Amino acid sequence: MNQKPFLAHIVTLFPEIFPGPLAHSITGRALAEGRWQLQTTHIRDFAADKHKTVDDTPYGGGAGMVMRADIVAAALEHALRQTPNAPVVFLTPSGKPFSQADAQRYASGEGLILLCGHYEGVDQRVLDALVDEEISIGDYVLTGGEIAAYPVLDATVRQLSGVLGNHETLDEESFSVALGGLLEYPHYTRPEIWRGVGVPEVLKSGHHGKIAQWRKEQALSRTEQRRPDLLRNQSKQLKKCIT
Ligand code: 6GU
Repeated sequence: MNQKPFLAHIVTLFPEIFPGPLAHSITGRALAEGRWQLQTTHIRDFAADKHKTVDDTPYGGGAGMVMRADIVAAALEHALRQTPNAPVVFLTPSGKPFSQADAQRYASGEGLILLCGHYEGVDQRVLDALVDEEISIGDYVLTGGEIAAYPVLDATVRQLSGVLGNHETLDEESFSVALGGLLEYPHYTRPEIWRGVGVPEVLKSGHHGKIAQWRKEQALSRTEQRRPDLLRNQSKQLKKCIT
């Protein structure tokens, strides 16, 4: 590889669950090819006492435990020594919604440091001191940031140069949700009749103009049905392109 690989660095209490699914399929092939690297830092390694405690009870009372600022800081600073310019991102349901634009921005840098939270939270002072951004992958609560790290890394890694092959090009994604465009149109392949159900005639017509028009209409009606918010938020430029 003539280019320095992108370094994904996960700061976590559960390093053993990585690379998990990222070692398979397209991200796995790219990992094997050296287009990106995955490193984990175990937060517990930075605990100072013999019980390897990383959390404590919250000031002000309440349920749950809070991860200590000093221990999380030591783990993050360990990661930062390898990629000092990589953004430090905290995965939390109270973060900003993660988007395709974020994945593209991360992929344009030298790496990404992901802090996976657990328990009730992480001491705010270490977030203020060392974290650049907080992101969420959706409006539901996961038990920890580790599972959220998978979609964030997958979306980022597939944007790196050389990761997608010719068959998996990003070009066709102009109508995807992720870009704030439309949902994808439906796809069909053989058999031509399956359980008595055929394929839309237009797709077999060989008429490229009509096929493109049909797909556009399908994408639009699906989006109206499933994600009307995308149509409301659409840029003028995209509106022009789909009508
Ligand atoms: Cl990034 N972390 C956790 N723990 N829960 C989430 C999330 C992240 N995004 C949605 N729910």
